[in-house]
Amino acid sequence: MIKPLRKAVLPVAGLGTRFLPATKAIAKEMMPVVDKPLIQYAIEEARAAGIEQFCMVTGRGKTALVEHFDIAFELETTLRERHKTETLALLADTQVEPGSLVTVRQQEPLGLGHAIWCARAFVGDDPFAIMLPDDLVLSETACLRQLADVYRDTGGNVVAVTEVPKEHTNRYGILKIGKDDGKLVEVLGLVEKPAPQVAPSNLSIIGRYVLLPEVIGHLARMERGAGGEVQLTDGMAKLIGEQPFHGLRYEGNRFDCGDKIGFLEAQIAFALKRSDVGPAVRAFLKNYTGM
Ligand code: G1P
Repeated sequence: MIKPLRKAVLPVAGLGTRFLPATKAIAKEMMPVVDKPLIQYAIEEARAAGIEQFCMVTGRGKTALVEHFDIAFELETTLRERHKTETLALLADTQVEPGSLVTVRQQEPLGLGHAIWCARAFVGDDPFAIMLPDDLVLSETACLRQLADVYRDTGGNVVAVTEVPKEHTNRYGILKIGKDDGKLVEVLGLVEKPAPQVAPSNLSIIGRYVLLPEVIGHLARMERGAGGEVQLTDGMAKLIGEQPFHGLRYEGNRFDCGDKIGFLEAQIAFALKRSDVGPAVRAFLKNYTGM
Protein backbone atom coordinates (compact mmCIF):
# COMPACT_ATOMS: atom_id res chain seq x y z
CA MET A 1 0.00 0.00 0.00
CA ILE A 2 1.37 3.39 -0.98
CA LYS A 3 0.74 5.83 1.86
CA PRO A 4 -0.58 9.26 0.83
CA LEU A 5 1.85 12.17 0.93
CA ARG A 6 0.58 14.74 3.43
CA LYS A 7 3.64 16.06 5.26
CA ALA A 8 6.36 18.53 4.35
CA VAL A 9 9.50 19.52 6.22
CA LEU A 10 10.93 22.95 5.50
CA PRO A 11 14.47 23.48 6.80
CA VAL A 12 14.74 27.21 7.51
CA ALA A 13 17.42 27.45 10.17
CA GLY A 14 20.15 28.68 7.80
CA LEU A 15 21.89 31.96 8.56
CA GLY A 16 21.65 33.33 5.05
CA THR A 17 25.24 34.53 5.04
CA ARG A 18 25.29 34.64 1.24
CA PHE A 19 22.80 37.49 1.43
CA LEU A 20 24.31 39.80 4.01
CA PRO A 21 23.70 42.56 4.89
CA ALA A 22 20.03 42.01 3.92
CA THR A 23 19.74 38.99 6.20
CA LYS A 24 21.40 40.47 9.28
CA ALA A 25 18.08 41.03 11.08
CA ILE A 26 15.54 39.29 8.86
CA ALA A 27 15.28 35.66 7.83
CA LYS A 28 16.33 35.03 4.24
CA GLU A 29 13.10 33.08 3.72
CA MET A 30 11.17 36.32 4.39
CA MET A 31 12.77 38.10 1.44
CA PRO A 32 10.06 38.83 -1.11
CA VAL A 33 10.01 37.94 -4.78
CA VAL A 34 7.77 40.71 -6.13
CA ASP A 35 5.50 40.94 -3.06
CA LYS A 36 5.50 37.49 -1.50
CA PRO A 37 8.16 36.04 0.81
CA LEU A 38 10.02 32.93 -0.31
CA ILE A 39 8.49 30.87 2.49
CA GLN A 40 4.98 31.60 1.23
CA TYR A 41 5.84 30.38 -2.26
CA ALA A 42 7.00 27.14 -0.66
CA ILE A 43 3.85 26.69 1.42
CA GLU A 44 1.61 27.43 -1.58
CA GLU A 45 3.54 24.95 -3.71
CA ALA A 46 3.19 22.33 -0.98
CA ARG A 47 -0.56 22.87 -0.79
CA ALA A 48 -0.79 22.44 -4.56
CA ALA A 49 0.82 19.02 -4.02
CA GLY A 50 -1.76 17.98 -1.43
CA ILE A 51 0.40 18.65 1.63
CA GLU A 52 -1.64 19.28 4.78
CA GLN A 53 0.94 19.25 7.57
CA PHE A 54 4.01 21.45 7.74
CA CYS A 55 7.09 21.34 9.92
CA MET A 56 9.56 24.19 9.83
CA VAL A 57 12.99 23.38 11.19
CA THR A 58 13.89 26.80 12.55
CA GLY A 59 16.57 28.46 14.59
CA ARG A 60 17.19 31.69 16.46
CA GLY A 61 15.81 34.82 14.82
CA LYS A 62 13.28 32.99 12.66
CA THR A 63 10.02 33.78 14.49
CA ALA A 64 8.75 35.95 11.60
CA LEU A 65 8.38 32.79 9.53
CA VAL A 66 5.77 31.44 11.91
CA GLU A 67 4.14 34.84 12.49
CA HIS A 68 3.64 35.13 8.75
CA PHE A 69 1.20 32.20 8.80
CA ASP A 70 -0.71 33.38 11.87
CA ILE A 71 -3.83 35.54 11.95
CA ALA A 72 -2.73 39.19 12.27
CA PHE A 73 -5.72 40.20 14.36
CA GLU A 74 -5.13 43.97 14.61
CA LEU A 75 -4.23 44.29 10.94
CA GLU A 76 -7.15 42.23 9.73
CA THR A 77 -9.67 43.95 12.03
CA THR A 78 -8.49 47.37 10.87
CA LEU A 79 -8.70 46.38 7.20
CA ARG A 80 -12.19 44.97 7.75
CA GLU A 81 -13.37 48.16 9.48
CA ARG A 82 -12.03 50.17 6.56
CA HIS A 83 -13.71 47.84 4.04
CA LYS A 84 -10.38 47.05 2.37
CA THR A 85 -11.65 43.77 0.98
CA GLU A 86 -9.06 43.43 -1.77
CA THR A 87 -6.18 44.04 0.61
CA LEU A 88 -7.64 41.54 3.07
CA ALA A 89 -7.88 38.94 0.31
CA LEU A 90 -4.09 39.17 -0.12
CA LEU A 91 -3.74 37.64 3.33
CA ALA A 92 -5.94 34.63 2.63
CA ASP A 93 -3.07 32.37 1.53
CA THR A 94 -1.05 33.21 4.62
CA GLN A 95 -3.45 31.35 6.86
CA VAL A 96 -2.97 27.70 7.60
CA GLU A 97 -5.39 25.25 9.16
CA PRO A 98 -5.20 25.47 12.95
CA GLY A 99 -2.64 22.97 14.20
CA SER A 100 -1.19 22.20 10.79
CA LEU A 101 2.07 24.10 11.22
CA VAL A 102 4.61 23.01 13.79
CA THR A 103 8.20 24.00 14.36
CA VAL A 104 11.22 22.24 15.74
CA ARG A 105 14.53 23.89 16.46
CA GLN A 106 17.87 22.98 15.04
CA GLN A 107 20.09 24.36 17.78
CA GLU A 108 23.38 23.96 15.93
CA PRO A 109 24.19 24.27 12.21
CA LEU A 110 25.30 20.65 11.72
CA GLY A 111 24.00 20.28 8.17
CA LEU A 112 20.86 19.66 6.13
CA GLY A 113 20.76 15.99 7.10
CA HIS A 114 20.80 16.95 10.76
CA ALA A 115 18.04 19.51 10.18
CA ILE A 116 15.81 16.83 8.65
CA TRP A 117 16.62 14.43 11.48
CA CYS A 118 15.44 17.14 13.91
CA ALA A 119 11.95 16.69 12.37
CA ARG A 120 11.90 12.91 13.06
CA ALA A 121 8.95 13.01 15.49
CA PHE A 122 6.89 14.92 12.92
CA VAL A 123 7.81 12.50 10.14
CA GLY A 124 7.04 9.36 12.13
CA ASP A 125 6.30 6.46 9.77
CA ASP A 126 5.02 8.54 6.89
CA PRO A 127 6.39 9.58 3.52
CA PHE A 128 7.30 13.26 3.52
CA ALA A 129 8.35 16.07 1.26
CA ILE A 130 11.33 18.32 1.85
CA MET A 131 11.31 21.83 0.41
CA LEU A 132 14.24 24.22 0.51
CA PRO A 133 12.54 27.63 0.20
CA ASP A 134 15.70 29.17 -1.37
CA ASP A 135 14.98 27.17 -4.49
CA LEU A 136 12.08 28.76 -6.29
CA VAL A 137 10.54 26.99 -9.27
CA LEU A 138 8.43 28.76 -11.86
CA SER A 139 6.34 26.11 -13.57
CA GLU A 140 2.91 25.36 -14.95
CA THR A 141 2.41 22.46 -12.54
CA ALA A 142 3.83 22.98 -9.04
CA CYS A 143 7.21 21.25 -8.88
CA LEU A 144 6.29 19.31 -5.73
CA ARG A 145 3.03 18.21 -7.40
CA GLN A 146 5.13 16.70 -10.19
CA LEU A 147 7.21 14.81 -7.63
CA ALA A 148 4.11 13.72 -5.70
CA ASP A 149 2.71 12.21 -8.91
CA VAL A 150 5.87 10.17 -9.39
CA TYR A 151 5.73 9.06 -5.76
CA ARG A 152 2.13 7.94 -6.25
CA ASP A 153 3.20 5.84 -9.23
CA THR A 154 6.43 4.37 -7.85
CA GLY A 155 5.84 4.36 -4.09
CA GLY A 156 9.49 5.28 -3.66
CA ASN A 157 11.85 8.16 -3.14
CA VAL A 158 12.02 10.90 -5.75
CA VAL A 159 14.09 14.07 -6.04
CA ALA A 160 13.79 16.95 -8.51
CA VAL A 161 16.84 17.14 -10.76
CA THR A 162 18.30 19.43 -13.37
CA GLU A 163 21.43 19.53 -15.51
CA VAL A 164 24.10 21.98 -14.31
CA PRO A 165 27.37 23.04 -15.98
CA LYS A 166 30.06 20.47 -15.22
CA GLU A 167 32.13 23.08 -13.33
CA HIS A 168 29.25 23.58 -10.87
CA THR A 169 28.90 19.99 -9.63
CA ASN A 170 30.70 21.00 -6.42
CA ARG A 171 27.69 23.12 -5.42
CA TYR A 172 25.04 20.36 -5.43
CA GLY A 173 24.07 16.80 -4.71
CA ILE A 174 24.85 14.87 -7.92
CA LEU A 175 23.27 11.70 -9.30
CA LYS A 176 24.83 8.55 -10.63
CA ILE A 177 22.35 7.64 -13.30
CA GLY A 178 20.89 4.28 -14.31
CA LYS A 179 17.94 3.90 -16.68
CA ASP A 180 16.86 7.23 -18.09
CA ASP A 181 13.75 7.88 -20.18
CA GLY A 182 14.57 11.57 -20.58
CA LYS A 183 12.24 12.55 -17.76
CA LEU A 184 12.47 9.95 -15.04
CA VAL A 185 15.94 8.77 -14.06
CA GLU A 186 16.85 5.73 -12.02
CA VAL A 187 19.25 6.77 -9.26
CA LEU A 188 22.19 4.41 -8.75
CA GLY A 189 24.18 6.68 -6.47
CA LEU A 190 24.28 10.13 -4.91
CA VAL A 191 27.30 12.26 -4.07
CA GLU A 192 27.24 15.59 -2.25
CA LYS A 193 29.19 18.38 -3.91
CA PRO A 194 31.71 16.32 -5.91
CA ALA A 195 34.56 18.05 -7.73
CA PRO A 196 33.89 18.19 -11.49
CA GLN A 197 36.65 15.62 -12.19
CA VAL A 198 34.98 12.95 -10.03
CA ALA A 199 31.29 13.85 -10.46
CA PRO A 200 29.30 10.84 -11.72
CA SER A 201 27.16 13.12 -13.94
CA ASN A 202 26.09 16.73 -14.15
CA LEU A 203 22.53 15.98 -13.03
CA SER A 204 21.99 17.86 -9.76
CA ILE A 205 19.36 17.73 -7.03
CA ILE A 206 17.32 20.87 -6.45
CA GLY A 207 15.54 21.60 -3.19
CA ARG A 208 12.48 19.39 -3.68
CA TYR A 209 12.32 15.84 -2.37
CA VAL A 210 9.75 13.16 -1.56
CA LEU A 211 11.29 10.59 0.76
CA LEU A 212 10.27 7.53 2.67
CA PRO A 213 10.72 7.73 6.46
CA GLU A 214 13.55 5.17 6.52
CA VAL A 215 15.99 7.93 5.60
CA ILE A 216 15.71 9.23 9.17
CA GLY A 217 17.34 6.06 10.55
CA HIS A 218 20.33 6.59 8.27
CA LEU A 219 20.63 10.26 9.23
CA ALA A 220 20.51 9.31 12.91
CA ARG A 221 24.03 7.88 12.62
CA MET A 222 25.24 11.47 12.25
CA GLU A 223 28.02 10.53 9.85
CA ARG A 224 29.82 13.63 8.65
CA GLY A 225 30.17 14.18 4.93
CA ALA A 226 31.08 17.05 2.59
CA GLY A 227 32.10 20.18 4.49
CA GLY A 228 32.12 18.22 7.77
CA GLU A 229 28.30 18.36 7.84
CA VAL A 230 25.64 15.67 8.23
CA GLN A 231 24.45 15.54 4.63
CA LEU A 232 20.93 14.62 3.54
CA THR A 233 22.45 13.34 0.31
CA ASP A 234 24.51 10.75 2.20
CA GLY A 235 21.46 9.56 4.14
CA MET A 236 19.46 9.25 0.92
CA ALA A 237 22.30 7.36 -0.77
CA LYS A 238 21.86 4.59 1.82
CA LEU A 239 18.29 4.01 0.61
CA ILE A 240 19.42 3.11 -2.91
CA GLY A 241 19.03 -0.61 -3.45
CA GLU A 242 16.66 -0.87 -0.48
CA GLN A 243 13.84 1.19 -1.99
CA PRO A 244 12.95 2.65 -5.41
CA PHE A 245 14.83 5.92 -5.97
CA HIS A 246 14.26 8.23 -8.91
CA GLY A 247 15.22 11.65 -10.14
CA LEU A 248 12.62 13.67 -11.99
CA ARG A 249 13.58 16.19 -14.65
CA TYR A 250 10.75 18.49 -13.66
CA GLU A 251 9.04 20.91 -15.96
CA GLY A 252 9.85 24.51 -14.98
CA ASN A 253 12.62 27.00 -14.28
CA ARG A 254 14.48 26.92 -11.02
CA PHE A 255 15.96 30.01 -9.39
CA ASP A 256 18.53 29.78 -6.62
CA CYS A 257 17.28 32.63 -4.45
CA GLY A 258 20.08 32.12 -1.94
CA ASP A 259 22.32 33.62 -4.60
CA LYS A 260 22.23 37.29 -5.59
CA ILE A 261 21.98 36.69 -9.32
CA GLY A 262 19.42 33.91 -8.91
CA PHE A 263 17.33 36.13 -6.67
CA LEU A 264 17.38 39.01 -9.17
CA GLU A 265 16.51 36.65 -12.02
CA ALA A 266 13.58 35.33 -9.99
CA GLN A 267 12.28 38.87 -9.41
CA ILE A 268 12.25 39.52 -13.13
CA ALA A 269 10.86 36.13 -14.18
CA PHE A 270 8.07 36.13 -11.59
CA ALA A 271 7.22 39.80 -12.26
CA LEU A 272 6.99 39.20 -16.02
CA LYS A 273 4.55 36.33 -15.39
CA ARG A 274 2.16 38.52 -13.42
CA SER A 275 -0.71 40.31 -15.08
CA ASP A 276 -0.61 43.26 -12.64
CA VAL A 277 3.07 44.24 -12.83
CA GLY A 278 4.26 42.20 -15.84
CA PRO A 279 3.52 44.69 -18.65
CA ALA A 280 5.16 47.60 -16.79
CA VAL A 281 8.27 45.55 -16.00
CA ARG A 282 8.52 44.36 -19.60
CA ALA A 283 8.28 47.95 -20.86
CA PHE A 284 10.87 49.09 -18.33
CA LEU A 285 13.35 46.37 -19.31
CA LYS A 286 12.92 47.24 -22.96
CA ASN A 287 13.50 50.94 -22.44
CA TYR A 288 16.22 50.61 -19.86
CA THR A 289 18.35 48.03 -21.59
CA GLY A 290 17.45 49.18 -25.12
CA MET A 291 16.63 45.57 -26.05
C1 G1P B 1 21.60 21.46 -0.56
C2 G1P B 1 21.84 19.97 -0.72
C3 G1P B 1 22.30 19.66 -2.14
C4 G1P B 1 21.28 20.20 -3.14
C5 G1P B 1 21.03 21.70 -2.89
C6 G1P B 1 19.90 22.20 -3.75
O1 G1P B 1 22.83 22.13 -0.66
O2 G1P B 1 22.81 19.55 0.22
O3 G1P B 1 22.43 18.27 -2.32
O4 G1P B 1 21.74 19.99 -4.46
O5 G1P B 1 20.68 21.95 -1.53
O6 G1P B 1 19.71 23.57 -3.62
P1 G1P B 1 23.07 23.63 -0.09
O7 G1P B 1 22.45 24.55 -1.09
O8 G1P B 1 22.40 23.69 1.24
O9 G1P B 1 24.55 23.79 -0.01
